Amino acid sequence: MTDSRSFRQLMGCFATGITVVTARNKENEPVGITINSLTSVSLDPPLVLFCLDRKAQLYPIFRQASHFAVNILSEDHQDFSQYFAYAHHPKPKNMWDKAQDGLPLLKGTLGWMICKMHKIHKAGDHDIFVGEVIKLHKRAGQKNPLLYFHSRYRKIED
Ligand SMILES: Cc1cc2nc3c(=O)[nH]c(=O)nc-3n(C[C@H](O)[C@H](O)[C@H](O)COP(=O)(O)O)c2cc1C
Repeated sequence: MTDSRSFRQLMGCFATGITVVTARNKENEPVGITINSLTSVSLDPPLVLFCLDRKAQLYPIFRQASHFAVNILSEDHQDFSQYFAYAHHPKPKNMWDKAQDGLPLLKGTLGWMICKMHKIHKAGDHDIFVGEVIKLHKRAGQKNPLLYFHSRYRKIED
C-alpha cells in the first residue's frame, strides 16, 4: 500500500530545480505558477513536460494557452518561487523582464524557453502539459540554481 504521506516523503528525496511557468490570462496580464515537475522529454523535436494540479487556480488558463514560457530560477530568487506558489500573492511589477513572443519572462533567471503547447494528458489529479521548445536562452555567467529538497529551498554549497 502506498499512502500519500510516504509517497510525498519519498519524492521529497528527489532534489529538483525550480521554475516559474508563465502565460497570459484573458486580460492579457502576465501570470505564472511555481513548478518543480519540469522534465526534458525529447530531443527531436525538443519537448519538455510539467505536471499541473487540476485544482490550481491557473489551471484553466494553461489548459487554453497556445504557448507557455519556462523560467529557470537562480538561487537569488527564492522570493519568485514564493510569489508564484500562490495565485493571489501580490507580485512586484519590477520582477518582469522584456517579454518574448508575447510571453512574460522573469528577471535574473538562469534561462528561459518558449514552448508551443504540444499535448495535454490527463494523469490522476494532475494534467501533464507537453510543450515543444521553439525558442530558448541560457543566460551568460555561472549563477547557481535554486533547489528544492525535503520540502525546503536549498542552495548548492561547493
Ligand atoms: C517548489 C514548489 C514546486 C511546485 N511544483 C508544482 C508542480 O510541479 N505542479 C503543481 O501543480 N504545483 C506545484 N506547486 C504548487 C503550485 O505552485 C501552487 O502553490 C499550487 O497550485 C496552489 O496554488 P493556488 O491554490 O493559488 O492555485 C509547487 C510549489 C512549490 C513551492
